[in-house]
Amino acid sequence: MTNQTSTGWGSRIGLILAMAGNAVGLGNFLRFPAQAIENGGGAFIIPYLVCFLLMGLPLLFVEWGMGRFGGSKGQHSTPFIFDAIGKAPFWKYFGVFGIFTNIAVAAFYCYLESWALSWAFHSVAGTFDGMTKIQLDHFFTSYIELGSSQPIVFWLICLVLNTFILSRGLKGGVEKVAKIGMPLLLFFGLILAITGVTLKASPGGADFDGLVGLDYLWSPDFSSIWSFKVWVAAAGQIFFTLSLGMGSIHCYASYLNSREDIALNAMTAGWMNEFVEVVLGSAIIIPISVGFLGIDAISDMVSGGSGFGIGFQVLPQLFGSWGWFGTLSGLMWFGLLFFAGITSSMAMGTPLIGFMRDNFGWKSQYGAYLFGALIFLFGIPAVLSQDAFNEYDYWAGTVALVLFAMIEIVLFAWVLGMDKAWDEITRGADIKVPIIFKYIIKFISPVFLIVVFVGGLPEIINRATKETSFYGWLGRAMLLILFVGIAILVAFAKRKLLKTNK
Ligand code: ALA
Repeated sequence: MTNQTSTGWGSRIGLILAMAGNAVGLGNFLRFPAQAIENGGGAFIIPYLVCFLLMGLPLLFVEWGMGRFGGSKGQHSTPFIFDAIGKAPFWKYFGVFGIFTNIAVAAFYCYLESWALSWAFHSVAGTFDGMTKIQLDHFFTSYIELGSSQPIVFWLICLVLNTFILSRGLKGGVEKVAKIGMPLLLFFGLILAITGVTLKASPGGADFDGLVGLDYLWSPDFSSIWSFKVWVAAAGQIFFTLSLGMGSIHCYASYLNSREDIALNAMTAGWMNEFVEVVLGSAIIIPISVGFLGIDAISDMVSGGSGFGIGFQVLPQLFGSWGWFGTLSGLMWFGLLFFAGITSSMAMGTPLIGFMRDNFGWKSQYGAYLFGALIFLFGIPAVLSQDAFNEYDYWAGTVALVLFAMIEIVLFAWVLGMDKAWDEITRGADIKVPIIFKYIIKFISPVFLIVVFVGGLPEIINRATKETSFYGWLGRAMLLILFVGIAILVAFAKRKLLKTNK
């Protein structure tokens, strides 16, 4: 199954669940519904699906292909995967993004994950029982207030859990967690989605049927299809949800041997993510919260936000009115978010671990400890301040993804050459990949990416020049330090390699 039995995957199903777990995350359940509503409900889904077909799927093929290619050269992280593909010395520095983004995103992502763990605990402990919306808002604000110890404790638990799982390796850690977490997540998601869709208005209960919320989400507002902003939002969601442009897919795929299928695996993991996002992600928070609070209130809550308000401040109150099933629903909802989160964040640790092992001979455990230490260190500003959190989210979680994807597709399809790239994608394939993808990857996806990136430039310049608080600046400085630090390590690794080869 793998090219390195001691460090690789144990089974195909394990790999697919881990890949799907990498993709399925908080983005599917919180970010997607909020983005869809904010960008015109039904109108969002058209750009979203177009982006999935013209950019998402092609990039999945590209990243799996590049990853498996890298693995055949003994490389499991993008700096030296890029180096192996591109001949010029600068490519490896573009590859730095594939480690940088993972650490920077994990630094704030683990904190969000820890909220889910904490809320699951409080649901079972009955903390939310009988709480009004105002009380829940208060609970939330005091929870994240500077100086409160609870979020730190749950955050540290999440950091330790991530580090521990990663220290057990792919087969013994990542794969095991994915095999337990993903089925549970799907099971919880299905129960909650059925609850959401079948919710009925009743005296003393919900004001509207659950279908009212779904109807709102899916009612087309075609006018917004012509808005560039909606397309950028749809592209951003496709990137985030599929974990594209991060480097984690390359890393997972690099543990396959060079004759193993990647086409069907990529399709399966990608479509599984889309099912969870479009079907389950739509059918939980929107129908339930709109059923109880009405469309206007929910629409106001999502505007400019990511759905966190509804997920953490509204749902517990609604669950609180359902008796024992409410307690169970709270546990399932926050448990689902936690599993979604941890199967994504652990993927973010693997490129660094691979890099340290391949280039400095570090044991995987030590790579895992280093990752834990780094997300602790870089997480501090994000935990302390929303401004730093937003900087991480914007620069690493949004801009870097598109930039990296643009670079990698040029490298793969144009520098390596599309014929070789196509051979990489289709070698050992268990399905016949439609030939149209060869042309989409070569021409359409790069143009699409360049348009999205160039179209987003005014906002990028605006954000780069915008004043921010001390913590906002600290966040920016930390990101720069992280990038430069990894680039220096890459330069050292190259020197070491050249010396050894002499
Ligand atoms: N793909 C992960 C998510 O959707 C990062 O949350």
